[in-house]
Amino acid sequence: MLRGKRILLGITGGIAAYKAAGLARELTTRGAEVRVIMTRAATEFIGPPTLQALSGHPVLCEGGTPPAGGDGMDHIAAARWCDALLVAPATADFLAELAHGLAGNVLSTTCLALEHRPLLLAPAMNRAMWQHPATRSNVRLLADRGARLLGPASGLQACGEEGPGRMLEPAELITALEQTFAPGRLTGRRLLVSAGPTHEPIDPVRYLGNRSSGRMGYAVAAAAAEAGARVTLVSGPVALSPPPGVPRLLVETARQMHQAVLAQAPDHDIFIAAAAVADFGLDPVPTTKHKGSVLRLELARTPDVLVSVAELAEHRPYLVGFAAETEQLRERAVAKRQAKGLDMIVANQVGHDQGFGDVETRLLVLWEGGGVQLQQAPKPEQARRLLALVAEHYDTDTHTAAHH
Ligand code: CTP
Repeated sequence: MLRGKRILLGITGGIAAYKAAGLARELTTRGAEVRVIMTRAATEFIGPPTLQALSGHPVLCEGGTPPAGGDGMDHIAAARWCDALLVAPATADFLAELAHGLAGNVLSTTCLALEHRPLLLAPAMNRAMWQHPATRSNVRLLADRGARLLGPASGLQACGEEGPGRMLEPAELITALEQTFAPGRLTGRRLLVSAGPTHEPIDPVRYLGNRSSGRMGYAVAAAAAEAGARVTLVSGPVALSPPPGVPRLLVETARQMHQAVLAQAPDHDIFIAAAAVADFGLDPVPTTKHKGSVLRLELARTPDVLVSVAELAEHRPYLVGFAAETEQLRERAVAKRQAKGLDMIVANQVGHDQGFGDVETRLLVLWEGGGVQLQQAPKPEQARRLLALVAEHYDTDTHTAAHH
């Protein structure tokens, strides 16, 4: 899988930097072409000549000798040259730098110049640093932007403490890299994703909303694009940027989401409805502000986007719905899948201080005659696991066969 692949290996200054030597060696053994970039701090843990010998190429580092043929634009050239950039180890400092777009050294500059290629990060640090809110938020930013976080693992640390923060072993990093290059299981498929909440206006200045952050839907869109699908995102109001290369249609109300999705659905093979569409809204919406001490609203049912797509007589895509439930998760999800005529349903527990806005989630995925529980993981990783299931069932599901 890695034969002939051009891997840029970034090394930052942590004790795990010594493992990068084994990693570089293993990569070249598997036929990958490896070039190494080191931060100045990394060179205090391991010498550039070691990496030069193992990769067979001069190492790009601060104050070091530029690679042969260097033209002063080496970070740009390196970013264009590679098929993937893996930073291992990635220190807390480096993650912070990257999260905020700083370009203070040759490696962070290369990361900034990277376009349309996977960026994989293997964090390594003390467990308290990993768990610090600043690091949590930096990691979240990076994952939202499409970087793939590999690990860290838990265990005994170099500092003698025990907990999460150990860099993954080279073999595990190599498996992750191989996955990146595995032929996209959704290659060429057209995938439509709805995401985020909807806002239902009750007068010209106020609206009813819900707690959806859009994170899961955006992670699904990113994972689908990563798996080779052509993705369209229909999104309610959220504070997220669309994944690179994914066109986004922004809507506000359930009715607008209904319109946008129905217009798109027939041109897509798969529809994943991750949006938390408001079930009720005001219709019509008054054109003046409500005044007075009491406000009474009579809300009307909004159109069900997913059901409307399920009812399409022609070009009905393979349908995946979500079920956010506060109790009886499995029973309700089973019932909802049947009631809405879905191929697959993804249930998650909400309420009790979990669900909306969380970075991590547990999911129960159910299809005709089967199901699987996806253990707690960050939403981008959950989205990848879900897409793998969708890809697998899309091809085999009898329901799909009837429609394609
Ligand atoms: N959904 C939709 N349009 C709506 C309501 C829901 O497309 N007007 C979709 C959601 O995107 C989700 C699934 O239907 O994929 C289930 O949403 P959920 O709110 O959990 O279920 P409801 O159908 O609203 O049922 P209830 O509120 O009774 O649990």
